[in-house]
Amino acid sequence: MSDTLDAQQGALRSQLLDQVAAAADLAALDAVRVAALGKKGAITDLMKGLGGLTPDERREAGQKLNALKDEIAAALDARKGALEAVELESRLAREGLDMTLPARPQARGRIHPISQVVDELTAIFCEMGFSVAEGPEIETGWHNFSALNIPPHHPARQMHDTFYLPDQDGAKDADHAETVLRTHTSPVQIRTMLEEEPPIRIIVPGRTYRSDYDMTHTPMFHQVEGLVIGRDITMGHLKGCLIEFCKRFFEVDDLPVRFRPSFFPFTEPSMEVDIGCSRKGGELVIGAGDDWLEILGSGMVHPQVLRNGGIDPDIYQGFAFGMGIERIAMLKYGIPDLRTFFEADVRWLEHYGFEPSDTPSMAYGLTK
Ligand code: PHE
Repeated sequence: MSDTLDAQQGALRSQLLDQVAAAADLAALDAVRVAALGKKGAITDLMKGLGGLTPDERREAGQKLNALKDEIAAALDARKGALEAVELESRLAREGLDMTLPARPQARGRIHPISQVVDELTAIFCEMGFSVAEGPEIETGWHNFSALNIPPHHPARQMHDTFYLPDQDGAKDADHAETVLRTHTSPVQIRTMLEEEPPIRIIVPGRTYRSDYDMTHTPMFHQVEGLVIGRDITMGHLKGCLIEFCKRFFEVDDLPVRFRPSFFPFTEPSMEVDIGCSRKGGELVIGAGDDWLEILGSGMVHPQVLRNGGIDPDIYQGFAFGMGIERIAMLKYGIPDLRTFFEADVRWLEHYGFEPSDTPSMAYGLTK
């Protein structure tokens, strides 16, 4: 009887161990476990059969069966560990990352120098407490000219090479009916004064239009306007603000800056601002030498312009300035031809454009 049991157990043992070894994955191995140790498993069956034996036989056979059960359980465990390790290996291989690849593909777009310079100006003026304002590119004759002290038929209107659009219906007068593409960003001075209470401190970057086309003129170009209105604003503020701007924008700490008397109908007094440069050997170097380069127009806001903007000139004063964005971009970045800005030539953009991630800031520097 005991011999038969031994033989039976021996056969079962090698059969189960073979099956454990042959299980190719965790699911197959679990099937082997159920077939051996489950409720209706082979070893469980044998355990149930112990009841029919004498106490002595039962003790002996029970011990052997327990040993068999432990051995099979251990074999199952070992195989399970091995199969899990194999599975982990294959998952790691499948989901592997090449850590030597760049985090992002090389950015292909470039930031246009106009956008870059607008971001640079904005960073500088915002740190001085200015905020950014905007206005429409299609303006009335009143906002673009009359409110800025350039009355109809004044020669200054002709000087602007204006693009005229069809008159607007239903306007309150001819001046408001007249519709133009704005010739400068100065009409936003008027719009801001009419909308906001002083103190006012804004810059206005944006597109402007004049009917002119040659090496140094394009029919669309960009300007940035500045307007400061307050109770005690003086020319000292104008000078301090613009000298500081020029030094920071051109990144030359001891940049020479000169204020030269000029004329604009909307400022009194008016001055143009020049920065020091050298043109030796045909090469322009900003901040060096004994030559001058004009970069912007400015002045104290004319009392009549304040009145047109609904501001009492006996209480408030202000200063304003305006400059061409292409011009200062060309000077700073050595771009020789204005017209190339608008040719949409990707090779030009590749050369003169900026990395999208290089956002200008006063904390980290304007350009890298
Ligand atoms: N609007 C003037 C121009 O286009 C520039 C300017 C702005 C001058 C503000 C003085 C004050 O030339």
